[in-house]
Amino acid sequence: MIKYNKIYNKDFLDFSKKIPEETIDLIVTSPPYGIGKEYEKKIPLEDYLSWSTKVFTEFRRILKDTGSLFYQVGTYVGEKGVHYPWDIMLFPLFVNLEFISRNRIIWIRQHGTHAKHKFSNRHESILWFTKSHNYKFNLDGIRVPQKYPNKKGYRKGKLYGKFTSDPRGKNPGDVWAFRNVKHNHEEQTVHPCQFPEDMITRIILATTDPKDIVFDPFIGSGTTAVVAKHYNRRFLGCEIVEEYVNIANHRLKGEPDKNNNFPNLKTLRHYVDLTGEDIAKFTYSRQVGKVPTPSKNSRIFSENYHLEKTIERITYEAENPRFKGECK
Ligand SMILES: C[S@@+](CC[C@H](N)C(=O)[O-])C[C@H]1O[C@@H](n2cnc3c(N)ncnc32)[C@H](O)[C@@H]1O
Repeated sequence: MIKYNKIYNKDFLDFSKKIPEETIDLIVTSPPYGIGKEYEKKIPLEDYLSWSTKVFTEFRRILKDTGSLFYQVGTYVGEKGVHYPWDIMLFPLFVNLEFISRNRIIWIRQHGTHAKHKFSNRHESILWFTKSHNYKFNLDGIRVPQKYPNKKGYRKGKLYGKFTSDPRGKNPGDVWAFRNVKHNHEEQTVHPCQFPEDMITRIILATTDPKDIVFDPFIGSGTTAVVAKHYNRRFLGCEIVEEYVNIANHRLKGEPDKNNNFPNLKTLRHYVDLTGEDIAKFTYSRQVGKVPTPSKNSRIFSENYHLEKTIERITYEAENPRFKGECK
């Protein structure tokens, strides 16, 4: 029998056999891409697609009828740099298994490597599927501020002179700008491609209720479990690399190890905020400066800030091409 609130050090397709049918409320994950990252082998595209079909068949079996699946993917780069967007390649597999598509969310980034022979990648996507039409979507749990909260109706009619925007905030839309966990992000562990916690928070709050079961079959450094625990959901995780399972458990525990080290700056800051201990006594993996900075000095900007900055930047770049040559 599997236990909840636990991360298993297993291969997903072996582990999934232990999960009973229709028990999971939400699956949220980012899979290995088979492109030769440090935790995986490069595998041919056909093999990857047949592995994916087996994985999605298991997802369908273990999801409750009211359940949701969020699958976050980027691109597969084939021979000679040929570009295959994973969401386009995988979408037919989901549809063949009768998953019902709800959204294709575009996750944009301000930064990344600069390509030389094509446009630089600045987005990934998240496919949202449900198993039936009887699914959960709690919009009130995830509203964001209105752009023009003080706008009033100006046409004669019922709304004339009244506020036209919902004071509770608006739907966040399907373009998300959560900061990627790189560089000096306070959540960064030694894992190379973590989810940002705020992105998983939105997904969990929108599609689950307290005590629901949230499963990440490729959980890496444990982000999904950390967020699920924080919001009083039960979690279940699976991860093939033991080192990542240890990091995930360390994040969940939130205490220093025997060397007074933490898996990331966020966990360290949280610990000293709670205990009042001197932050200079501790270190964290991927430490940048000599002494960790406390949470009062942290500079964390909202998703909206990143979204607006990105749009400002893209608009500026479109309006100011470096070369304004005449058309020939
Ligand atoms: C894209 S990363 C997920 C990172 C995670 N979202 C986080 O926040 O840290 C994919 C993870 O899947 C793991 N993995 C690869 N193949 C696996 C398999 N067959 N079963 C379970 N985990 C696997 C990798 O070790 C890697 O940590």
